[in-house]
Amino acid sequence: MTKQPLSRRRFLKITGLTVAGVALAGSGLGYTATLTPAVATPAFHLEGENTMNQRILVTYATRAGSTAEIAAAIGESLAARGYTVDVTPVKEKPDPAAYAAVVLGSAIRMNGWLPEAVEFVKTHQAVLAGLPVALFTVHLLNTGDDDASRAARAAYLAAVRPLLPDAEAVYFAGLMDYARLSFLDRTIAKMVKVHEADHRDWAAIRSWMPAALAA
Ligand SMILES: Cc1cc2nc3c(=O)[nH]c(=O)nc-3n(C[C@H](O)[C@H](O)[C@H](O)COP(=O)(O)O)c2cc1C
Repeated sequence: MTKQPLSRRRFLKITGLTVAGVALAGSGLGYTATLTPAVATPAFHLEGENTMNQRILVTYATRAGSTAEIAAAIGESLAARGYTVDVTPVKEKPDPAAYAAVVLGSAIRMNGWLPEAVEFVKTHQAVLAGLPVALFTVHLLNTGDDDASRAARAAYLAAVRPLLPDAEAVYFAGLMDYARLSFLDRTIAKMVKVHEADHRDWAAIRSWMPAALAA
């Protein structure tokens, strides 16, 4: 990852290359290239001291693990505030109906949320509509403070925003670690000169609290 915010042009190059890569994988020749190294997907329960004993779900979708690590940190912050928290990968299909509020996060790949996070919102739209919901997005492009970057970040939520029009949304810069990527993804990242770097601002991540839970 370069120090400069990456341009939309570079992102479009990433998209084109990945479409080509998927075609290769689909042909059967590129199967090995798409194998992703094992990634830790933490799931844990933290008992809070809040007398209201509100139970919060923090659920997330990740490919290379950085979103999982951010979800874990958010869960710990909520527990430190007294909430009882379950941190669970969205792939484990948690039931939001069992919770007082939901924090849902996804990594960005190819300009959008991961499909399993979108699927979670679609499946549970009715329940989520009746709960405080906060969305966190982990990405590397469009991190600037300018209007264009802000608009591009907001567009990452295109698949879920119509279903959750009132949900709070926050964006965190993520991680590029080639060792966590498939050969194909690593090749794409190198070709578009997205260098290895950890852009996560842990102070910002740990101090973030969904507005509905901050009181
Ligand atoms: C193949 C690939 C595509 C990506 N596409 C985007 C993108 O379109 N926009 C963006 O801001 N970041 C993009 N990223 C950066 C990831 O969102 C970032 O590395 C994030 O920390 C990954 O989260 P994870 O470790 O939980 O999978 C991409 C990364 C890879 C490897």
